[in-house]
Amino acid sequence: MKTKAEASAPGKVILLGEHFVVHGEPAIVLAIDRRVTVTVKVRSDSRVFIKSEDLGISGFFKNDQFFPQRGDGEAKRRLEPIYAVAKEIIQKCGSNNGVNIEVKSSLPIAAGLGSSAAVSVASAAALCSLFDFKESKDNIFQIAFNAEKIIHGNPSGVDPAISTYGGILQYRKSKPIRRLHVNIDLPLVIGNTKKERSTGTLVAKVNNLRRRYPQIIGKIIRAGGEIVERSVRALREGDLETLGELMNINHELLSAIGVSCMELEKLVHAARNAGALGAKLTGAGGGGCMIALVSPEKIKDVADAIEMAGGEVLITRKTDAGVIIEE
Ligand code: MEV
Repeated sequence: MKTKAEASAPGKVILLGEHFVVHGEPAIVLAIDRRVTVTVKVRSDSRVFIKSEDLGISGFFKNDQFFPQRGDGEAKRRLEPIYAVAKEIIQKCGSNNGVNIEVKSSLPIAAGLGSSAAVSVASAAALCSLFDFKESKDNIFQIAFNAEKIIHGNPSGVDPAISTYGGILQYRKSKPIRRLHVNIDLPLVIGNTKKERSTGTLVAKVNNLRRRYPQIIGKIIRAGGEIVERSVRALREGDLETLGELMNINHELLSAIGVSCMELEKLVHAARNAGALGAKLTGAGGGGCMIALVSPEKIKDVADAIEMAGGEVLITRKTDAGVIIEE
């Protein structure tokens, strides 16, 4: 067994289909070149000690009990999924050792860019490497997906899937993951409202609305799926104008199911007015980030407009690299 191991995993943006994907429709998601890195070390006792410098939290788990060291009441909730990943792998390996887990991230948290899934995926990969446990990517995805269920209640699995496999995926719950081969560049500007929100709460809100208006919300969900199907064709044909228009329609459907907010609307409209081909919220909504599809010559105008409207701009590129174990 090694004494130390490290792995990293990317964040993501959902191009189309968030929320609808929870209800069985497809989504298109791409990995971005902002990553989470997790370093793990073996301990001689059985504690699982977890530290996230970016979040300013740390603490350890001993026999499923949490002992906070740094951070507010949020520490347990945020660290629990990482503990779930560690516990599952340590048990599978039949080890009596605990571990130190250190998380470093270049992704904003609770912003719709998949930071929690990236942490789970990178933790699973680093721990498998530490214990010389030869896990396939499919199993790493499954372990991270189980951990996501602790925080998000009823997630679709799209976040751990993209963090594990990278690239651009067409994802549908419980169906084989489909890699999309897109030959064009997708110039995206990301705008962060800096308003944190909980994915679990927003997913529950949509479930509740669907329960109250099954016919109406059911039709909106199906329309979301049709937008994705049509967008796959636009992506293949390199037709960014159509893709942008479909992103706009997708955003309005997300507004209709109640997951947009004033801060997101401001950024989305600022981007469109500055010449974006399309703009929409990305991820769970309720705050967090929006994305704008732009032609290369408009990137600066759109980025400036997002900033003027109060957003924080992130320029990222798509990446093919999913989870990576550092050797
Ligand atoms: C969160 O990144 C995307 C949602 O569709 C939730 C999920 O798919 O699990 C809102």
